Amino acid sequence: MSPFTDQAIGVFDSGIGGLTVVRALMERLPFENIIYFGDTARVPYGIKSVETINRYALQITEFLLRKNVKLLIVACNTMAAVAYQAIRDLSPVPVLEVIGAGAAEAAAKTVNRTIGVIGTPATINSNAYARAIHRLDRDIRIFSQSCPLFVPLVEEGWLDHEATRLTAAEYLKPVLAEDIDTLVLGCTHYPLLKPLLADIVGPGVRLIDSAEAMAEQTADLIAAKKLENASGDPAQYLYCISDVPYRFQTIGERFLGRTLSCVETVRL
Ligand code: DGL
Repeated sequence: MSPFTDQAIGVFDSGIGGLTVVRALMERLPFENIIYFGDTARVPYGIKSVETINRYALQITEFLLRKNVKLLIVACNTMAAVAYQAIRDLSPVPVLEVIGAGAAEAAAKTVNRTIGVIGTPATINSNAYARAIHRLDRDIRIFSQSCPLFVPLVEEGWLDHEATRLTAAEYLKPVLAEDIDTLVLGCTHYPLLKPLLADIVGPGVRLIDSAEAMAEQTADLIAAKKLENASGDPAQYLYCISDVPYRFQTIGERFLGRTLSCVETVRL
């Protein structure tokens, strides 16, 4: 059972990158309790097979359901891309995921109907963003690019480093050649690169932060289903991780934008 007086929102990711989504949720829904699970022992997922990603995703879903969450949020683009249906099939509570949120925001914002999508190899190979955007508007042109080096660069803290700038310029060259006016940051880690990416893409390209879009969708769902935390108590946060990796505290706080306390190491 949940340790909270009021049921929490369960948020999960392959590691600590999903804290960018928790941060957006804290800002948008400051009264909601949150239990976060980050699979720090097994990250990165973005380069793993579909079968492995599915198996891990279902283990995490079971863990959070045992915590009696009222809603599940798949903060990890890779799990959302590959395992969303399986997670939904298992969950008796509503499941939201970052790809639907980011796709809806991008489709609403593009003017020339030409969108770039960047993400991990698993996310890009799944074509999940393109399918989600095309469900909303078939005529939008989509250009995707996997950026496998971004995750380690962000974890290294090289958010404004020359190596990151060169890497980003190289990755973005083909999508920028297609006259995109919107670029979806399709990975938990990429919002931390926003200033650098904004410099590279220039003022004519709008960056879509899936974390912010996710927080908006969550607020809408909570209001529609009347799931608000009505206890009046200050929100509680619990962070469960499967390992305490090197520099966890520093990197975690960079993603969360505040002090990281109430951390529990759990075994799935
Ligand atoms: N959380 C993953 C995502 O959003 C990035 C890290 C990983 O590869 O596991 O795609």
